[in-house]
Amino acid sequence: MRIDVVTIFPEMFEPVLGQSIIKRARNKGRVEIKIHNLRQYTKDKHKKVDDRPYGGGPGMVMMPQPIFDAVRRLKQKSDKLKNKPRIILLSPQGKKLTQKLAKKLSADRHLILICGHYEGVDERVMKHLVTDEVSIGDYVLTGGELPAMVLIDTVVRLLPGVLGRSSSKDVESFEEGLLEYPQYTRPAEINNYKVPEVLLSGNHARINQWRKKQALKVTRKKRPDLLKNV
Ligand SMILES: C[S@@+](CC[C@H](N)C(=O)[O-])C[C@H]1O[C@@H](n2cnc3c(N)ncnc32)[C@H](O)[C@@H]1O
Repeated sequence: MRIDVVTIFPEMFEPVLGQSIIKRARNKGRVEIKIHNLRQYTKDKHKKVDDRPYGGGPGMVMMPQPIFDAVRRLKQKSDKLKNKPRIILLSPQGKKLTQKLAKKLSADRHLILICGHYEGVDERVMKHLVTDEVSIGDYVLTGGELPAMVLIDTVVRLLPGVLGRSSSKDVESFEEGLLEYPQYTRPAEINNYKVPEVLLSGNHARINQWRKKQALKVTRKKRPDLLKNV
C-alpha cells in the first residue's frame, strides 16, 4: 500500500509514524508513507494556502488551487500502480472511522489523505476531488494531522504481515461486534489479586468458552449499544 499525506505541518508526522509497528511495516515494505508539504504547491509568492471566506465570517479557508495541484501530482503515482487512489479529506463532517471502515481502506492500494486547517477547506475540493470524507469522532480538532495519523495507524496494522501473529487482530475489540475479553499476564497473583483459574488450566476449549462469555459480559457492561448489531 502507498499512503500520501498532504499537510501544512509535515514535521508532525515522523515522530509518530517513525515508531514501533508502523516503522517496522515501513521498513519491511508493507507500506510506503510519503508526507507532502502543501505549501510547495501554492502559486502565491508568500506560500499562502488560505484566504478569507467569500460572504464574510470568521477565520480563513484553505484555498483549492494548491490542493488540486498536489493531488493531481500524487495521482500520477497511482497511474504507475495502475489503480485509482482513494482521496480522503479528514473532516469532522465525514463518515465516522470504525474498525469496519479501516478494514475496507486496508484493501486499497493507494490512499491520498488531505489534512484541513483553519475553518476548513474550500467546498469545491469536497465536491470535485475528494472520494471520501472521514471523521475520527464527533468533536472538532484544530487540524487534520492527528486524524490522518489515527487513520494511518489503524489501517496499516491491518495490512498482511504487519502484526507479529496474524491472528492477534482477529480476536480484538470490534472484530465480531464485541469488545475483547479481559487479558492477564504474569504473575498469577499480585496483592492477593488472582488470575482467573480457567486461564491457568491449559484447557483450551474451556478457555475459549470463558473468553466468549467474558467478551459478551464486558460489552454488555461497557458498550451495550454494540450488542444491537451482534
Ligand atoms: C477547525 S477544523 C474545521 C471545522 C469546520 N469549520 C467545521 O465546522 O466543520 C479544521 C480541520 O481539522 C480537521 N478536523 C477537525 N476535527 C476533525 C475530526 N473530528 N475528524 C477529522 N478531521 C478533523 C479537518 O481537516 C478540518 O478541516
